[in-house]
Amino acid sequence: MPEENVHDTPVSAPKINGQAYPFTDHTYDVVVVGAGGAGLRATFGMAEKGLKTACISKVYPTRSHTVAAQGGISASLGNMGEDDWRWHMYDTVKGSDWLGDQDAIEYMVREAVPAIIELEHYGVPFSRTEEGKIYQRPFGGMTTHFGKGIAQRTCAAADRTGHAILHTLYQQALKHRAQFFVEYFAIDLIMDEEGNCVGVVAWNLDDGTIHRFNAKMVVLATGGYGRVYFSCTSAHTCTGDGNAMALRAGLPLQDMEFIQFHPTGIYGAGCLITEGVRGEGGYLTNSAGERFMERYAPSAKDLASRDVVSRSMTIEIREGRGVGPNKDHIHLHIEHLDPKVIHERLPGIAETARIFAGIDVTREPIPVLPTCHYNMGGVPTNYRAEVVTLKNGSPDSVVQGLMAIGEAACVSVHGANRLGSNSLLDLVVFGRAAAHRCVEVVKPEEAPRPLPKDAGELAISRLDRARHANGDMPTAALRLEMQKVMQSNCAVFRTGEVLQEGCDHMQRIWAHRDRIKVEDRSMIWNSDLAETLELDNLLYQAVVSIESARNRQESRGAHAREDFPERDDQKWLKHTIAWAREDGKVEIDYRPVHLQPLSNDVQSFPPKARVY
Ligand code: FUM
Repeated sequence: MPEENVHDTPVSAPKINGQAYPFTDHTYDVVVVGAGGAGLRATFGMAEKGLKTACISKVYPTRSHTVAAQGGISASLGNMGEDDWRWHMYDTVKGSDWLGDQDAIEYMVREAVPAIIELEHYGVPFSRTEEGKIYQRPFGGMTTHFGKGIAQRTCAAADRTGHAILHTLYQQALKHRAQFFVEYFAIDLIMDEEGNCVGVVAWNLDDGTIHRFNAKMVVLATGGYGRVYFSCTSAHTCTGDGNAMALRAGLPLQDMEFIQFHPTGIYGAGCLITEGVRGEGGYLTNSAGERFMERYAPSAKDLASRDVVSRSMTIEIREGRGVGPNKDHIHLHIEHLDPKVIHERLPGIAETARIFAGIDVTREPIPVLPTCHYNMGGVPTNYRAEVVTLKNGSPDSVVQGLMAIGEAACVSVHGANRLGSNSLLDLVVFGRAAAHRCVEVVKPEEAPRPLPKDAGELAISRLDRARHANGDMPTAALRLEMQKVMQSNCAVFRTGEVLQEGCDHMQRIWAHRDRIKVEDRSMIWNSDLAETLELDNLLYQAVVSIESARNRQESRGAHAREDFPERDDQKWLKHTIAWAREDGKVEIDYRPVHLQPLSNDVQSFPPKARVY
């Protein structure tokens, strides 16, 4: 599609090490980086309102990781039993172990209902009840009457809900003529001297050209950084590029120690088996065939919150009750379900289990293990998706020109632990909120803030350093070392000693960035070069995550310290804020949790014991 305002010939060409890097310049009202659920929802919402909107994505939009979301998206529609957004709010606050900000949570659960109805109208092919309403299944931690009953709140399109939503959102973005820059790798933000974001630099993987986008608003929608772990449910592209760009721009990340392990990744392969399996009646057993979750969570059992189920499975394995020859995993059963239910509601996982575990789910249990799945932490924002920067004692201030949404952001609606199916909801609600806010603050008739003189040089210098990396270590070797450290030293259970060992090891790995060797210097489809930039991004997030975990001396949600087994609201009811310096050192501060809901007439939920 022809694009206005593009210099299709390079306008300037800074030289680094004698090598010229010509820039192609673009000007937009808004540039969204990332084309998953959040990025696409924001993109089309902005384009629909007449903002000149570009969306940059390193993969074809419908290959973004949202496509892999299975079980569903939560909203208190009440299609399959009574429901109320206040119950959803309570469940989310409790699921977050009281670290979630209650203003943002109220916003999310209330907006869930219109946001899902909109999705239906845009064309998402949800599964249906007999009466033709959107089908909703139970999910972990989702209750009625403030914890008393089980809610059916998770709206599903079989077990391919993310796929259905992503394709629909992409079609909407095309309909509203958003401009896509597909297979462009965003390298770094452009910040001006006052600390405002004025654009972003991206590398076109297809032809090797470098693009400088000047925008009134940049929206980071780059997803999570699951690939810091050896075993995760995330796509290989989940390298948290936006989070790392924020750190390099001198901005902090929030709550990075809170990393979710999904109870049911396929043993060995790590692929996700949806929680929807347990929502449809599946259950876990140990080597004695015991349904052990009854001991750990007597009410919710297999549908307890994910952190609780993952810890219970880990304890079973540690205490010698794992299954398999090495007693190192757990069984997930759906053999007892009617094959018609599996065919209609869980066709995807039946196929995944056949391909990746070689089993027929109608006859045998699925071998599963807790697997890194989601990052609760990210770029701190308010509920309007605006990035905030904060230090203890100083008021939150908005970074002009920058927003973050989806898994890249920490709003914080998930706090210390996210409930299943609140992630797709977060993407859609805050993608939409970003669009609404941009319509208020971005003025199409005004020019964007000008680019500073050295705009793009930081990005180019990183690219050039990676291209000329000539050490003795392949990128993949250093990446593996980082992944193994995160897997062993920042896992489901943690201790100060193990975390300290991990921090020390991570500093050595950071220093080894200088030992990387990139064989191919070309700029065209150079996956070694792209992976080297991605590894750099992962390392920024790894150091921040493990240092934040070492510092937090309590157990809360997904952060389970064996040396500090209790939650300590007196000392630790606060968000971690962490900055990373170029030498790999991390600075940490804290900020208060918002315990006050958004509306004066809405009840807040003060911290109490969290039992399921
Ligand atoms: O289990 C699942 O289907 C995953 C859902 C989620 O992470 O929200």
